[in-house]
Amino acid sequence: MIVANNIKKIKSILKIQKTANQVIGFVPTMGSLHKGHLSLVKMAKSKSDFVVVSIFVNPIQFSQGEDYQNYPKNIKTDINLLKEEGVDLIFCPHPRDMYPIDFSVFVDETELSEVLCGKSRSGHFRGVCTVLVKLFNIILPDKVYFGQKDYQQALIVKRLIDNLNYDIRMYYLPTIRDKDKLAMSSRNRYLKDNERLDSLCINEALSLGRKLIQQGETRVFVIVDKMKNVIIKKRTAKIVYIEILDAINLKNLKIVKGKILIALAVYINGTRLIDNTVINVK
Ligand code: PAJ
Repeated sequence: MIVANNIKKIKSILKIQKTANQVIGFVPTMGSLHKGHLSLVKMAKSKSDFVVVSIFVNPIQFSQGEDYQNYPKNIKTDINLLKEEGVDLIFCPHPRDMYPIDFSVFVDETELSEVLCGKSRSGHFRGVCTVLVKLFNIILPDKVYFGQKDYQQALIVKRLIDNLNYDIRMYYLPTIRDKDKLAMSSRNRYLKDNERLDSLCINEALSLGRKLIQQGETRVFVIVDKMKNVIIKKRTAKIVYIEILDAINLKNLKIVKGKILIALAVYINGTRLIDNTVINVK
């Protein structure tokens, strides 16, 4: 396994693999890896010849006052985990190489980014799209792997790949949860014991949403209100949003019908957690 931070070196390694007709699978991450990330890596291993994982806490996708400086970093553990998975190449660039002093070109998705996390984290998806375009251009992957945990991000990446004519196949994999059903996230490491218990309200609210729909409730405002009641009972929880949208175009709905997304973002004390579920309603 090669670990490299130099962009030129990465490009030359990948050029050799490309010339040898190797299918390049790529998993972009911000590190502090958990089983959710590793599920993407395992799938990449099974579907490609040469697997690249990037570890880069991307400064431009964090807004002012967010946790960029404190974002958990465990590079040694990450490298060991990826070695165990049989990853071929780890790319961990330095921010000043990714964003030199004259950096002035950004990539903006202007439709799907307007809602949910895009509304509450200004500039977030611009940062995500820009770094991914840079990573795709450096690595030239044939296949990329993303998680449903960040449903909106996955939808935006699909749009980016299509709109910018990348010949990349995108795989989109289910959310991996801990035993207590909390979606795995690098940010879960911030949670103290009592906060961890409170955070279970997130999945409880999603389960309630699902149940109400299964029982025949169709009115979005009724479902969202009942979900809100589950969250506000927890002392440390503060809702950023709970929304039910069309899962294909993220447009607002009054009545649930077709493929729908229930998505929420909640602060547990200072920790911002997101989760979602997608349901096909007849
Ligand atoms: P990060 O939060 O590290 O996530 C990297 C990938 O892992 C994303 O595709 C995310 O959806 C997936 N993932 C995270 N938690 C998961 C879980 N519990 N189950 C399944 N998949 C999970 O997302 C980012 O980094 C960044 O925005 C990035 C795309 C790397 C751009 O900087």
